[in-house]
Amino acid sequence: MPTDIITAHGPALVAAALRKGLRSLAKAVVVITCQHGGQRHAMTATAVSELSMDPPSMLICVNKTASLFEPLSQGADFCINILAAHQADISALCSGKEKGEARFAIGDWRQSALGHAYLADAQASFFCRNVANMTHGTHGVFIGEVLEVIDLSPINPLVYMDGRYGSFVSGQG
Ligand SMILES: Cc1cc2nc3c(=O)[nH]c(=O)nc-3n(C[C@H](O)[C@H](O)[C@H](O)COP(=O)(O)O)c2cc1C
Repeated sequence: MPTDIITAHGPALVAAALRKGLRSLAKAVVVITCQHGGQRHAMTATAVSELSMDPPSMLICVNKTASLFEPLSQGADFCINILAAHQADISALCSGKEKGEARFAIGDWRQSALGHAYLADAQASFFCRNVANMTHGTHGVFIGEVLEVIDLSPINPLVYMDGRYGSFVSGQG
């Protein structure tokens, strides 16, 4: 039985209720990388979605205050690395105080032929050409056309829900 039913009205209350409601939206954790002006950038994200298979495309949402926003706004291509369950330390580093190159201090980072930084033992890496963007409220929305994919098995991604990291355990049925 539900114990805590909230009906919110007005933008501030709705935002608070939305934030609370989103705590039950389990997401796979990714680290988005890009390179711009000779500098590498990386950022932990969960606001990432598949968009289209024709052409194969992904969508990412990046806060305007994030260090990744400016390079992406200037058209930098990007790579979406889906983290494996054991990579919570990389997620913490890429969302913490360290910026720029310091975010590559842990993890098996490599350079692709296309020039993207990617995590060799990530669950999967999607190499994207930055083809379109828009802003809405606090965030930029960037669309990447996927040029190459690296995909590892077995599937065991890092999951974020209710402010905590975990992994997926399948139920019955
Ligand atoms: C699990 C998790 C998911 C996140 N998802 C996003 C996201 O989708 N978009 C975003 O802009 N920031 C997201 N963040 C916050 C950024 O990783 C964090 O603010 C980062 O430090 C960006 O700012 P900076 O590069 O200027 O430090 C997330 C953080 C965590 C821990």
